[in-house]
Amino acid sequence: MTHARRHPAFRPVQIVAHRGASEDAPEHTLAAYRKAIEDGADALECDVRLTADGHLVCVHDRRVNRTSNGRGAVSALELADLAALDFGSWKTRESVRARGEEPDWEHRPEDREATSVLTLERLLELVADAGRRVELAIETKHPTRWAGQVEERLLMLLKRFGLDAPPSPEESQVRVMSFSARSLHRVRAASPTLPTVYLMQFVSPRLRDGRLPAGVRVAGPSIRIVRNQPAYVERWKAAGHRVHVWTVNEPEDVDLCVDLGVDAIITNRPRAVLRRLGR
Ligand code: G3P
Ligand code: CA
Repeated sequence: MTHARRHPAFRPVQIVAHRGASEDAPEHTLAAYRKAIEDGADALECDVRLTADGHLVCVHDRRVNRTSNGRGAVSALELADLAALDFGSWKTRESVRARGEEPDWEHRPEDREATSVLTLERLLELVADAGRRVELAIETKHPTRWAGQVEERLLMLLKRFGLDAPPSPEESQVRVMSFSARSLHRVRAASPTLPTVYLMQFVSPRLRDGRLPAGVRVAGPSIRIVRNQPAYVERWKAAGHRVHVWTVNEPEDVDLCVDLGVDAIITNRPRAVLRRLGR
């Protein structure tokens, strides 16, 4: 059923594909991001990690064991090692059906690139060639381990695509997210107009009044925080922050986020969420 719910500020809520259209297609693959763009997602979320030879790749876990046919930590593998792996075969149509969903994506073995390891560079090319504006929400994973190298490489890559220094945060096509305030601080120090999102699994006592770490523009709470303590959304908004919520997959959570006036919904199911919002 379609709920053409209205955002209280009459601003459309942005629909962000979490790890791509990761319910249908294997997360963090070109296949999942192509699908998200086809589905009409406004933005794409991805996690980035550094390989042993200094490439930024889109992988969530520290190790590749869950999402590929290989083993080992991303940080201990070189890009060539990762390129030899298959990041798609773990997600079978049966595994999607087992969760009560009908898969809307077919693995085509001849399109090897679709399920190979995805570099951030390749994802930026995909966005550049999308034929419409697609935003990118890039999450730095375990940035403390690398003492600034993740952010440095990230900004170098964004510069190559002309995305590192937007005229203003509002106009930026890219934002950087992290659970690490230090990582976000490094990004802002290098590029003050690049918006940053502080991710929260819980709200720490020093931030309970709606403040965020200095300079951060966007609150990134989990849906659990929003469900259990919806008053925080009002507090962040009153403090002048935008609110981007993850990972919002259930219809009632989508409705709650829209009713509370959040600015972005990060979801594994962009197709279903857009349909629910009548888009
Ligand atoms: O979008 C933020 C969300 O992705 C953070 O959690 O573990 O899925 O990276 P995680
Ligand atoms: Ca993430």
